[in-house]
Amino acid sequence: LVLILDYGSQYTHLITRRIRTLSIFSLCISGTSSLKSIADLNPSVIILSGGPHSVHSADAPSFPDGFVEYVEKNGIFVLGICYGLQLIVQKLGGVVAIGEKQEYGRMVIEVVKDFGGLFKGKQIGDKQVVWMSHGDEAVGCQLGLRWWRGASRVRWRRWRIRVGGFMGCSIIQRGWMDGWYEIKVTHSPEGMDLLRHFFFDICGITDGWKMEDVMEEEIKVIKGMVGPDDHVICALSGGVDSTVAATLVHKAIGDRLHCIFVDNGLLRYKEQERVMGTFERDLHLPVTCVDASVQFLSELEGVTDPEKKRKIIGKEFIVIFDAFAHDLEKKLGRKPTYLVQGTLYPDVIESCPPPGSGRTHSHTIKSHHNVGGLPKDMKLKLIEPLKLLFKDEVRELGRILDVPVSFLKRHPFPGPGLAVRIPGDVTQGNALDILRQVDEIFIQAIKDAGIYDVIWQAFAVFLPIKTTGVQGDQRTHSNAVALRAVTSQDGMTADWYYFEHKFLDDVSRKICNSVRGVNRVCLDITSKPPSTIEWE
Ligand code: XMP
Repeated sequence: LVLILDYGSQYTHLITRRIRTLSIFSLCISGTSSLKSIADLNPSVIILSGGPHSVHSADAPSFPDGFVEYVEKNGIFVLGICYGLQLIVQKLGGVVAIGEKQEYGRMVIEVVKDFGGLFKGKQIGDKQVVWMSHGDEAVGCQLGLRWWRGASRVRWRRWRIRVGGFMGCSIIQRGWMDGWYEIKVTHSPEGMDLLRHFFFDICGITDGWKMEDVMEEEIKVIKGMVGPDDHVICALSGGVDSTVAATLVHKAIGDRLHCIFVDNGLLRYKEQERVMGTFERDLHLPVTCVDASVQFLSELEGVTDPEKKRKIIGKEFIVIFDAFAHDLEKKLGRKPTYLVQGTLYPDVIESCPPPGSGRTHSHTIKSHHNVGGLPKDMKLKLIEPLKLLFKDEVRELGRILDVPVSFLKRHPFPGPGLAVRIPGDVTQGNALDILRQVDEIFIQAIKDAGIYDVIWQAFAVFLPIKTTGVQGDQRTHSNAVALRAVTSQDGMTADWYYFEHKFLDDVSRKICNSVRGVNRVCLDITSKPPSTIEWE
């Protein structure tokens, strides 16, 4: 296990991800975790992340007392990045100075290869492109540590710390680590290679981490956790996470899993049919499909405030979920004990941000909700089999579990469904019907053009205005719709997708020619920020 102690760098997730792509299991916990929680994980390598603090500030986060002794005693390799490096240097009696100037962005550094440490036995170019982002710098160490400063313009320094003859720490300035993971794809062809060298050649890691093993392990855990008389419930949203989580639990405990899929009247074109087909035909999941569209839409009638709409939808889901659990109790003669949720690793990390990380959920842009919000009085225990996985790993797990690839690659769809794509009252006119048809034409065209997989999310929006048009020599006064397609890594930021003109022309024609009530098609060309991906 490679354990990352997080001091608040924005790149901590990325480091964890990059290491996993080498088939090495990595976990990230708070940099201020206790020595016991670190030791319980039994890591063979520890990485101290960067972070926004200065080691000189009063509230500078740090590893626990006894950490250095623990590392030495157990022969654990430690890699410090930026703040992590400065922390080690300071804790070992070295000097961290406030840098003469701050260094941000792309820089070229020179590598001294005969120094050993990280580069021992490694063929690497003399010059490397790295990304710097630091103010303080470690300028010297006591304890007889060697330190090296390169040619006058070189801004990179490296230490190899000898502790009692054992190379306990190879410490590296942030620029390099940035170089490893960020530059890997476009800027530094040698970055990933260096990581590989560090873990396999220097640290001697031999274990391969495979998704098949993750699956077996999770099944074992679920079997051990859920007793023979226990029943488990799960709300399926039609999204990848809840589907993969349910499929995994089903494999472990069979039909003691009871799933519910709610049609809230805000789904896409033929969505119910399509997802139920996958659940039942392809995955053999025991699913109850509840058509609650009348209930949802009557609660939403006349409501125009986006936050109010979301809250109503969230509340209705809980009412239905509650009724499902009670029905099940009557049928089984006992209450279900567990609830499956498709929580992913980023949610787990995000929910306990390290001090000073700037990562917080406190600023609510939209009150997101997922299907399966937990009614407080149900007292269900949670099964979260994906909570150590990232999204692409969940897709990989889904593939092993035989979830159809076309399903795994579906664009994300928000819990409140089409309600956030109809500004204003969702029950106005035949807005929902129009939107479904337009969306289907747009998505099908994207699939036909072979660009579905490069787009993070694409959809249509119903505009609550009427504009003048001329169709078949007649004046029309009909609705306008907007098309939105974005590229993104994680939905946190996004750029609008650059379609070819011909594609847009074809789609626009097809929409106006075949969807009654639409005479105008607009394209949303805003990124996030300043817009959000959804319109509400
Ligand atoms: P925004 O619109 O906030 O969306 O830029 C970012 C991503 O989140 C999805 N989204 C939601 N997902 N419940 C969800 O499960 C919600 O209430 C919700 N609102 C937005 C959105 O589709 C995009 O992928």
